[in-house]
Amino acid sequence: MKLYYSPASPFVRKVLVCAYERGLEGRIEQITTKVVPSEPNREYARVTPLMKLPALQCDDGLVLFDSVVICEYLDSLSKAPRLFPPEGPARWRALRMHALADGILDAAVLGRYETAVRPAESRWDAWLKGQLAKVDQSLDFLEANLREVEELDIGAVAVGCALGYLDFRYADRRWRDGRPQLAAWFEPMSRRPSFVKTVPHA
Ligand code: BEZ
Repeated sequence: MKLYYSPASPFVRKVLVCAYERGLEGRIEQITTKVVPSEPNREYARVTPLMKLPALQCDDGLVLFDSVVICEYLDSLSKAPRLFPPEGPARWRALRMHALADGILDAAVLGRYETAVRPAESRWDAWLKGQLAKVDQSLDFLEANLREVEELDIGAVAVGCALGYLDFRYADRRWRDGRPQLAAWFEPMSRRPSFVKTVPHA
């Protein structure tokens, strides 16, 4: 399989963490791919029309996107324990935590583009504040609902990747302040080999 990859992307990291947790990393070739919203990568458009990372080319040639679909695909390739619970309340809890973590990442990545990519003269502070408010509200929600990420499932993996991205790009915002339980939850998660091997870098 070929994974279109950037070492800074938290969505790529989530896919790689799933691959490590399922013992599939040796089957994945990483293809470093540059994606910047203001510079559409036309070559990559031949792989995926959305030109977003990640995309996974399966061994039969099918290209899967986005990270939600790729994670579930990888999870289907080897036997239990599964990261995607097959049914019942555990499944819906895991999927909703996955959605929450991806929502944190959507807001944080958009905020990052606003400050790191958009020209200073066309920045929109109120919009940026709105994105960061989504991040803060979601972190508070996690602090109050940590039992929802007690199991190592796709929800917990995604939340771990979201917190890792905040450490990477928003260290100055100090997400641990006022959220001691979430900080304590992240400690052992961030030391798992799957997380250590996928620490983001520029
Ligand atoms: C980043 O550099 O923060 C980044 C890179 C790729 C995707 C999302 C974020």
